Amino acid sequence: MSSIESVMTETRIFAPHEAFKQAATVSGIEAYENLCNLAEQDYTGFWADLANAEIDWHKPFTEILDESTPPFYRWFYDGELNASYNCLDRHLASRGDKTAIIFEADDGTSTHISYKALHQRVCRFANALKKQGVGLGDRVVIYLPMSVEAVVAMQACARIGAIHSVVFGGFSAKSLHERITDVGAKLVITADEGMRGGKAVALKSAVDESLTMGGCDAVEKVIVYRRTGGKTAWNESKDLWWHELEAVESDYCEPTWVNAEHPLFILYTSGSTGKPKGVQHSTAGYLLGAILSLKWVFDHKATDIFWCTADVGWITGHSYVAYGPLALGGTQVVFEGIPTYPDAGRFWQMIEKHKVSVFYTAPTAIRSLIKLGGNLPNNYDLSSLRLLGTVGEPINPEAWMWYHTVVGKERCPIADTWWQTETGSHMIAPLPGAIAAKPGSCTLPLPGIMADVVNEDGSAVSGTEGGLLVIKKPFPSLLRTIWNDPDRFQRTYFPNTLPGYYLAGDSAHRDADGYFWIMGRIDDVLNVSGHRLGTMEIESALVANPLVAEAAIVGKPHDIKGESIVAYVVLKGERPEGEAAKKIVADLRDWVAKEIGPIAKPDEIRFGDNLPKTRSGKIMRRLLRSLAKGEEITSDISTLDNPAILEQLKQPVS
Ligand code: WT7
Repeated sequence: MSSIESVMTETRIFAPHEAFKQAATVSGIEAYENLCNLAEQDYTGFWADLANAEIDWHKPFTEILDESTPPFYRWFYDGELNASYNCLDRHLASRGDKTAIIFEADDGTSTHISYKALHQRVCRFANALKKQGVGLGDRVVIYLPMSVEAVVAMQACARIGAIHSVVFGGFSAKSLHERITDVGAKLVITADEGMRGGKAVALKSAVDESLTMGGCDAVEKVIVYRRTGGKTAWNESKDLWWHELEAVESDYCEPTWVNAEHPLFILYTSGSTGKPKGVQHSTAGYLLGAILSLKWVFDHKATDIFWCTADVGWITGHSYVAYGPLALGGTQVVFEGIPTYPDAGRFWQMIEKHKVSVFYTAPTAIRSLIKLGGNLPNNYDLSSLRLLGTVGEPINPEAWMWYHTVVGKERCPIADTWWQTETGSHMIAPLPGAIAAKPGSCTLPLPGIMADVVNEDGSAVSGTEGGLLVIKKPFPSLLRTIWNDPDRFQRTYFPNTLPGYYLAGDSAHRDADGYFWIMGRIDDVLNVSGHRLGTMEIESALVANPLVAEAAIVGKPHDIKGESIVAYVVLKGERPEGEAAKKIVADLRDWVAKEIGPIAKPDEIRFGDNLPKTRSGKIMRRLLRSLAKGEEITSDISTLDNPAILEQLKQPVS
């Protein structure tokens, strides 16, 4: 990949400006190294001190780390707390009137919600959930647009010890169904419709559809937030209006104190099989990771206006919208819409309007905004910005430089944050007042995170060679298990080929300064616009179509999305050509959108009479990847059973 090559030869280095450094929470490289040393010297003591300092405990913990049944680690496991109490109640006395959320709707109208007001809404909704019989350990699926209500719903679940599982609103009814059934949801929270880019997006109808697919008997009620007032089907025995429930409840709900290890949420993510994994996070360890990373990496200040553009349907929206900023008593922007509506200046206009000081977005958004209007930021006053962040995929140095100069005016450090749904919070990222940045590198691990690059057997790589990215010691914010599938958890993340290390699933290398450079996934997972998609998931969706006999998915480098999706399809009937082929391409793309969601639609579909296979029948994905890129196949294809197929698969349908 060209961007990866340029990354490996990148030599520019950007040290924090003196003024930024002076004011930073972790100021200077020695301060960073001191923290790392503390963790080295007394690992559990390091985490225990932080957990005591950052979290309000209902019952303080006396036990720090249980390592008796690896890899099922437990942290602070005799302590009791409540995440919602930590995000709301503890701020009421000192900053009840401070704005917690500045909500900007798709149409540009904005509302400010104070901590006091948010606390009341969460309490009322938590009471409403209780009245519907939701309690400790019950699972609640949340399928909502970006809204204050989404945050309220998550916090309300946390308040009563219910486990939420947020499903991104862009997922199809089918995907939603898969998650509702796997998690065994008792209740679903949705909206009539969402509003994005001036268009209404149906949500309630997808919930209705998924509930007819069978296996959802556990779902007793569907709570519907009226966002647009658009027409929705109504099931009198199941459906309830959010506003009607909230109206009759009282302003206070006693938090349910839970064990530190109580699951705060389950969030599904793609893996290398067709079935998404329900990543299960704890309450205390997870919260601690969100808090510390905001302090260390985003250098959180009480005066900041923080804006993370991620949807709450992803982990980024959990840690850096729904929990982290609130746990610190910060003010944040929550945005309903899309970066290109009404035009590609929307982000910059909003930064100006709300005086955003810390801005966190994805490389794919940056690249698309460069393309749509690389000079647009210059039309706005961005002087409130002091720190920028990126997440989701490696950022190519050109995009980094643009972000640095055009958005950050060469004044704002950039934190390229490497982490995963599974890690809950940042793992490798610069502490901006301490660590100099190199465009394209996520730099160094956070204090206490023992990240490294190793060979397949866990041995140290030599020098700057590439290898597997691992984390050598358990840390508080790591996932606890895969919901309903502890074996898969163990197999996937702690394979017995490695000596007890957490296997992240990425390859990486470290340069002479020890900086980490992420090279890509080692499994069959694509990163499309910063979203993880399993190739098997898309293949299964295609094969479920009655026309399709076989399908293989590969990624292809893409200027904006990072990777695009190329599908090789063998139909049950004749290999189609011309108009017939075009029609089937359109139908199959729609099919995948219905099966998984629009984000999984193949960008290209190619048809063959067969797929390139070895004599033992294994699909040669390496060849398919080369074909997708338009490369001549020069490598050894002697093991290929059917070389003539390659000719057919060279061309996309056009
Ligand atoms: C995968 C995790 C963490 C929230 C967003 C995605 C890739 C993530 C970076 C980065 C290079 C990155 C990795 C990782 N990734 N951040 N800064 N540089 N790669 O969460 O869906 O769980 O995906 O995203 O491949 O394994 P996710």
